[in-house]
Amino acid sequence: MSDIHALVDPAHGLLNPTIYTDPGIYELELERVFGRTWLFLAHDSQLPKPGSFVQTYMGEDPVLVVRQRDGSVKAFLNQCRHRGMRICRSDEGTSRAFTCTYHGWSYDLEGNLINVPQQQRGYRDRIDKSSWGATKVPRIASYRGFHFGTWSDEVPDFVEYLGEMAYYFDATIDRWDNGIEFVKGAAKWVIDCNWKLPAEQFASDMYHAAISHSSAMLALHEDPAFHGLLNPPPDAPGRQFAGDGHGSGSFWLPEFGPDLHAGHEYSAWQTANRDEVFRRIGADRAVKVSGHNLIFPNFSWLGPVNTMRVWHPRGPGQIEVWAWTFVPKDASPEAKAGMRRGTQRSFSPAGVFETDDGENWTEVQQVLRGWKSRSTEFNVQMGMGFEERDSHGLPGLSNDVYSETAARGFYGRWLDLVDGLPWDEILRRADEAKRSEHAGESR
Ligand code: FES
Ligand code: FE
Repeated sequence: MSDIHALVDPAHGLLNPTIYTDPGIYELELERVFGRTWLFLAHDSQLPKPGSFVQTYMGEDPVLVVRQRDGSVKAFLNQCRHRGMRICRSDEGTSRAFTCTYHGWSYDLEGNLINVPQQQRGYRDRIDKSSWGATKVPRIASYRGFHFGTWSDEVPDFVEYLGEMAYYFDATIDRWDNGIEFVKGAAKWVIDCNWKLPAEQFASDMYHAAISHSSAMLALHEDPAFHGLLNPPPDAPGRQFAGDGHGSGSFWLPEFGPDLHAGHEYSAWQTANRDEVFRRIGADRAVKVSGHNLIFPNFSWLGPVNTMRVWHPRGPGQIEVWAWTFVPKDASPEAKAGMRRGTQRSFSPAGVFETDDGENWTEVQQVLRGWKSRSTEFNVQMGMGFEERDSHGLPGLSNDVYSETAARGFYGRWLDLVDGLPWDEILRRADEAKRSEHAGESR
């Protein structure tokens, strides 16, 4: 593997695509990025009662996320301590304990080992079960019904980690008194591309929409719900936010109108309930439209089309997308059904927009099979030098919606982590960058 700093230079907007193909870099990412950041585990609505569980991944590591009897949420590695089989092989469900299907070791809801077949005859009763529990996810953060986990004892608390991105996350998830819920079941599919391609795009790339999605927009031309969202007027004032590796890739400032939402049933409900949203997040923020977003490293959502997803890495050249449709809990059944249909036809495995995006990512990954193409530098320079802080009524560093500030921020944070910098050094450098920005302003 070459020197990582020779491959990524966020300050000058330069990128060597080896970072999308190199197995050595990928191994480092698993340990230093996915092993040291906050990763989305589950939403409250997926874990309705004690014993409810979902199986998911932290990077490539399978984990079980389980609602405990006291209502808290815990998670542990879904790997039996005997020979490494999955402790639980169901995607989701409710259970009182988990029994490995290989030789039958059983674990309780916290992952403690509670039963070993043939304990007397096989182990002469000398196995200390308390030492052989599943590996626990040591830190879980619960934020407005979303549970995130990390293996790191160094990474700052989730709220600090989220930083100014909270304003943009809340703009989608904190709109209703009773919160949101995930529609039951996830759509899961495989795309042959590196995980950073979708992650970066959701953090930063509004640029592609008018071009890549032109055929979809043509097909949906008559439907204001989609046309307005993905084909805003050329002069529509939109911004993109970048901070701490996260990005809100399109945050439109004016109200485009309630028809922007995923279906007409939703629009009517949205309009009827707007006072609640105004009260919760302020009229100003409520009427802004938050498009595609990323919480570093791999949790994304598209606000107006009600989809949330994780880009699970599967080797340098493949991902599994796990996507959920989210709806306001209090919405009428008709409104919820309208949102679900809207999500399915736009951003789902067969959605007219989703397939455009997936095609771009797989095409790029295929081009990178060539040795020459793999070492030919990419341009990530759009909008460089035109960043502003706390402008247009938005907190944090932002730029015009057509810029790559959040992409540079994403690769900057990625570089710090892959480089193996300890978290206190990463935070120190981020602080320093902010300070020098202020010094620059006052000159
Ligand atoms: Fe689980 Fe043997 S691998 S009991
Ligand atoms: Fe797209």
